[in-house]
Amino acid sequence: MANDHGQRVASMFGRIAGWYDFLNHFLSLGLDILWRRRLVDHLELPRSRASRLLDLAAGTLDVSLEAAGRHPQCRVAAADFCLPMLVQGSGKLRARGVSTIAPVQADGRALPFADETFEAASIAFGIRNIKPRQEAYAELLRVLKPGGRLCILEFGSGKQRILGGIYNFYLNRLLPAIGRVFSKDDGAYRYLADTILEFPDAHTLAGELRSAGFERVYWEKLAFGIVVIHVGVKKA
Ligand SMILES: C[S@@+](CC[C@H](N)C(=O)[O-])C[C@H]1O[C@@H](n2cnc3c(N)ncnc32)[C@H](O)[C@@H]1O
Repeated sequence: MANDHGQRVASMFGRIAGWYDFLNHFLSLGLDILWRRRLVDHLELPRSRASRLLDLAAGTLDVSLEAAGRHPQCRVAAADFCLPMLVQGSGKLRARGVSTIAPVQADGRALPFADETFEAASIAFGIRNIKPRQEAYAELLRVLKPGGRLCILEFGSGKQRILGGIYNFYLNRLLPAIGRVFSKDDGAYRYLADTILEFPDAHTLAGELRSAGFERVYWEKLAFGIVVIHVGVKKA
């Protein structure tokens, strides 16, 4: 059951679900597609044998689709607590005839999966929205198989100046305004900028993953650190 914060987040994504994909690609100049591709590289899913991936905070299923497209033997559980986002994604599954992805409405803080189910777990632009993050880390660790990989794609901390401050101006001023015009939602894109500002830097997040029990933690910065991929492995 989502907590109060979770209910506010789910209802906000519900309001912008119809615009989400368009705005994602538009506001990132299409770079989000490359970032998700790189995230799937880090999952290191086996090519020649069956595997299971949990895509948490799956939204409109873009990471799930990227992984399923590249790994036909992989079964993907696409979990998100916002039904309208999953409904948008399910339309894409039908349109593309994909049957290896199962959308599941679930809170990342209480996952409806048995211990040690998945070879890998991804979460793209989702961990920033989950409070407390530690509850999601604990659940992700629980459902991963020994040796399983957790790969997180998330914005870097908005506190760092990037490209001489141009990115920070874009993030804090332009992005909320453009988001408001298209999605007609006053709060959603302000929320995006505020949560990026609050979000910890890569060192701190790596520390959180280690404290949660993940090993071999590392990260890769993309686009000058605008986004970061974090990887942690469950003890084999
Ligand atoms: C910014 S979207 C990212 C969607 C997708 N992963 C992508 O790459 O576009 C964040 C998603 O996280 C979901 N979310 C946030 N908190 C969650 C939680 N506690 N449990 C499950 N889903 C959550 C929201 O409903 C939303 O669909």
